[in-house]
Amino acid sequence: MKSAEIRRRFLAFFEKRGHAIIPSAPLIPENDPTVLFNTAGMQPLVPYLMGRPHPQGDKLADVQKCLRTTDIEDIGDNTHATFFEMLGNWSLGSYFKEEAIKWSYEFLTSKDEGLGLDPARLYVTVFEGLKNEDGSWLVPPDEDAKRFWLEAGMPEHRIYSKGADANWWPAVKGKDTWTGPTGPCSEMFYDVTEEGIHTNKDGGVISFDEYCAADESQQLVEIWNDVFMEFEKKDGVIVGKLEKKNVDTGAGFERICAVLQKKTNIFDTDCFDLINAAIRERAVALSSGETPELLRARRIVADHVRASTMLISDGALPANSDQGYILRRLIRRAVRYADTLGMPTGSLEYVARAVAQTYVEAYPNVIADIERIVSVLNEEESRFRKTLDRALKEFERIAVTGAVSGTDAFDLYQSYGLPIEMTVEFAKERGISVDTDAFAAKLAEHEALSRAGAEQKFKGGLGDDSEISLKYHTATHLLHQALRDVLGTHVQQKGSNITPERLRFDFANGAKMTDDEKARVEAIVNEKIAADLPVQMVVLPKAEAEASGALHFFGDKYGDEVSVYYIGETLEGAWSKEFCGGPHAERTGTLGVFKIGKEEAVSAGVRRIKATLA
Ligand code: SER
Repeated sequence: MKSAEIRRRFLAFFEKRGHAIIPSAPLIPENDPTVLFNTAGMQPLVPYLMGRPHPQGDKLADVQKCLRTTDIEDIGDNTHATFFEMLGNWSLGSYFKEEAIKWSYEFLTSKDEGLGLDPARLYVTVFEGLKNEDGSWLVPPDEDAKRFWLEAGMPEHRIYSKGADANWWPAVKGKDTWTGPTGPCSEMFYDVTEEGIHTNKDGGVISFDEYCAADESQQLVEIWNDVFMEFEKKDGVIVGKLEKKNVDTGAGFERICAVLQKKTNIFDTDCFDLINAAIRERAVALSSGETPELLRARRIVADHVRASTMLISDGALPANSDQGYILRRLIRRAVRYADTLGMPTGSLEYVARAVAQTYVEAYPNVIADIERIVSVLNEEESRFRKTLDRALKEFERIAVTGAVSGTDAFDLYQSYGLPIEMTVEFAKERGISVDTDAFAAKLAEHEALSRAGAEQKFKGGLGDDSEISLKYHTATHLLHQALRDVLGTHVQQKGSNITPERLRFDFANGAKMTDDEKARVEAIVNEKIAADLPVQMVVLPKAEAEASGALHFFGDKYGDEVSVYYIGETLEGAWSKEFCGGPHAERTGTLGVFKIGKEEAVSAGVRRIKATLA
C-alpha cells in the first residue's frame, strides 16, 4: 500500500467515525517558548487535552509533522528519523478506552477500510499499574484496556503487561519534569519478520521474555500507541485527575509504511523514493556500490535534508540558538555526508526539491515556497564551507606541532565548527595523532553544562497560558497589523515567539526599518491599546473566514473550520483579524505600554522585531 493511500485511509476511517480532520500544526510551536519543536502529535493539542474547547469539536484526527533530534546519532539505522509524521486520533472528553482500542484494532486489521494487517502478527501491551510507597495502588493495573483488547479479538496470550517505563505517556526518562495531561498507554506491535517467526512458533504463544527480546531486536516493531489521558502532572508528579478523560493515539507514519510495504527500514519506503533518486543521481561514490558507510551517509542526507526543508518551510532559519541551531546542525551534517557520497557542492538543493515534490499533496506550502527554502539551504552550505576553510587553516597551524591534543580538537570543534570526525580524517592524511579520549572528556563536560542549561529552559514543558503571555500574544496581532499599515501589505508573519519577558516577531520585509517607521508602528499599537478594544473570537468555515479579510499565512495549517481572533467591536469593522488558535487577553487596555526594542535582519527578506510591554 502506498503512503498516500495509508494517509487517506487513516483519515477516512476516523472521519467516518465522527472525527473532524484537522491539518498538521507547524513543526515550530507558535507562542510556546518552552519547547523547540512538536515532538509528538499531542504537543500542539495540549491546551485542548487540558480542557480548552477545540473549535472543531471533541473528536479529531490528523497527521502531525514532528521533529526529534534526541536520536540524531541513530539516524542511518532502520527506524529512526529526525523529521517524521504521526497519525493520531483524539478524544477530548468524548470516547475513552473501549472505542479507542476497538478502532485501533479495526483500522490495523480491516482489509476494506483499514490496513489489512494480519491479526495473528499483532501483539499488544497494557499498563501493569503503579504503587504508592505504602503498597497501595496509585494507578491500578489497566484491566479495562485488557478486557477491551480481548473483546476486540486479541487472544489473551498476546496481551502483555508493562510498567511505567514502557506504558506511560509522556515517557519518563531520567528526571520527570512533565507538566500537563498524562496517562497510561497501550502499545501495538507487529511481527515484521518475513516468515512470521513469533507468530508461527508454538501456535503463536511466546513468553513475556521472548516478546521483550523480539521487541529489542526489532522483529516486533511498535506501530501504534493509545494513550488514555486522565491524569494531570505538575513537575513530574501526578496531582490529580483531569476534568475530562481524553484519548491521544500516535502511529509513526513512516514505520507503518515500512510494515505495509514489507521493507526492513523506513528509507526504502515510497516516502523516500524521490529523495533517494535525487541523491543517487549525484552521489558519485555510490557508482561503485553501497558500502555500509555509504548507506548510512545516504540515509543521513535523506533524513537531514527532509527535516531541514520542512523546518525552513515552517519558519526556521539557521542561527546559533534554539530551533535555528538545530537547523544549522542538520544542514551542516547533511553537507558533510553529501561530501562523503561524492555529491557536488550545491547538491542539497536538488534533494530539497525532491522533498517538496514528495509532499506536494500533503503539504503544498512546501513546493510553493521552495525557491526561498533552497536559497536558505545554499546560503548555509556556502557559509559552512567558508567556516571549513578557516578551520583547515587552523588545523594546518596545529598540525606542524606533530599531534592534535584534546584541547586543540575541542577548539577546532567549538570555535571553528570542525566536527571531530573531520579532524581525525585530516590528521590521518598527515600521519599525526588526535587525542580523541581527551576530546571526548572535554565534550562530555561541555554537553553536561549545555544540558543543564536546556533543562532549565524547557522546565515548563508546556504551552504558557500566563496572563503576561496572553498580553504578548495580543500585542503580536497589534504589531502585525501596525506593520502592514506603515510598511505595506507585503508584510507577512514568518514566525513568532513569546516569553514572559518579550515578544519576537519575524516578518517579510526587504529593508531595515527607519526610526520614523518604528516610531509610527509603536504609536499605532499604543493608540489601539489606549482605545481598550475588545479581543474576540469566532469560529467560521474557512472560506467565510478568508472572505472576512482575516490574515492567515501558514498555508496548510488550518482546517475546514477555523477560529479567527479580531480586535474591535465587530468582525466586519475590526482593525486586526487573524486566523489564530488563541488564547488572548480580553481587552487591549490591559496590555500596558508597547515598546519596540531591536529590529534586525534574520535572513534575506525577513526582519525580526523584539518588543516589550511595560
Ligand atoms: N503521545 C503518544 C506518542 O507520541 C501517542 O500519540 O507515542
